[in-house]
Amino acid sequence: MPKPGIFVTRNIPQPALDRLEEVFSLSIHASDQAITRAQLLAAVKESEALLCLLTDTIDRELLDAAPKLKCVSNLAVGYNNIDLEYASSRNIVVCNTPGVLTESTADLTWALLLACARRVVEGDSFVRAGRFEGWGPMLMLGVDVFAKTIGIIGMGRIGSAVARRAEGFGMKVLWFDPLIDPQTVSAKYERTDLRHLCASSDFISIHAPLTPATRHLINAELLALMRPHTVLVNTARGPIVNEAALIEALRDNGIFAAGLDVFEHEPEIPAELLAQDNAVLLPHIGSASVETRTKMALMAAENAIAVIQGTEPPARVN
Ligand code: DGY
Repeated sequence: MPKPGIFVTRNIPQPALDRLEEVFSLSIHASDQAITRAQLLAAVKESEALLCLLTDTIDRELLDAAPKLKCVSNLAVGYNNIDLEYASSRNIVVCNTPGVLTESTADLTWALLLACARRVVEGDSFVRAGRFEGWGPMLMLGVDVFAKTIGIIGMGRIGSAVARRAEGFGMKVLWFDPLIDPQTVSAKYERTDLRHLCASSDFISIHAPLTPATRHLINAELLALMRPHTVLVNTARGPIVNEAALIEALRDNGIFAAGLDVFEHEPEIPAELLAQDNAVLLPHIGSASVETRTKMALMAAENAIAVIQGTEPPARVN
């Protein structure tokens, strides 16, 4: 019997490709650059499974171009790039990769938080530019992290992992998440509303999914509640923050700094944001460690294999 066809939209770690080849006839856009829309539409025509990335828009048009499709396996925990409702109406199983990237993403969140608080990137640029003329009592003063308050927006797996790390810094943890059962969150952390969280936290870290309810959740009004020493970190999805309002807050010293791994119109970043020394900007690398990306790719492979073999995939979202 011929093997079912899977299309993989970019180079991914080899162990996952090896595993897929045991079950599928594999086609791949063998590149480190994103596939074009036209290439993707053409490539999925005969596919029964698709292993795609958060940079691929899997909308109605794409799904209609793939009449044999049974599974869309997204190599990411977030799946806002997929029209879930339409996929469900076509009985296409959509899967993601939760859990395996939790700790790496929490680590990167802390890298951004600390870099912002202690002006690590600015300091590095300063030294490399030959501007360091010796220790100075007023040189590059940041804000302390130890014993401060962190407000976490989105208290799922990653938010909770960020909170655990905050305990090591002796911090008070506030959290806001209308979707989480408070019984499942440690009583050591204080549940609060968004306005109070913004007004009372020294550090604010976003870990919510991008949905219609969270798009521009952090807007000019909430930014205005934050204080001049507040650091905002976003390793979730760019459109959760109104980027124009954030740029104003950074420019007017309404907040101290922002650490951003994600952007509103990725990969485009406004020149005004690039110009801000009090922003640390990373290219969406929250889960980008060798170990984690390998685990994610293997999980995405197992998801697709399970759907094609008619068993329950490790992580389905519809
Ligand atoms: C995700 O998984 O949603 C991240 O943004 C990429 O790891």
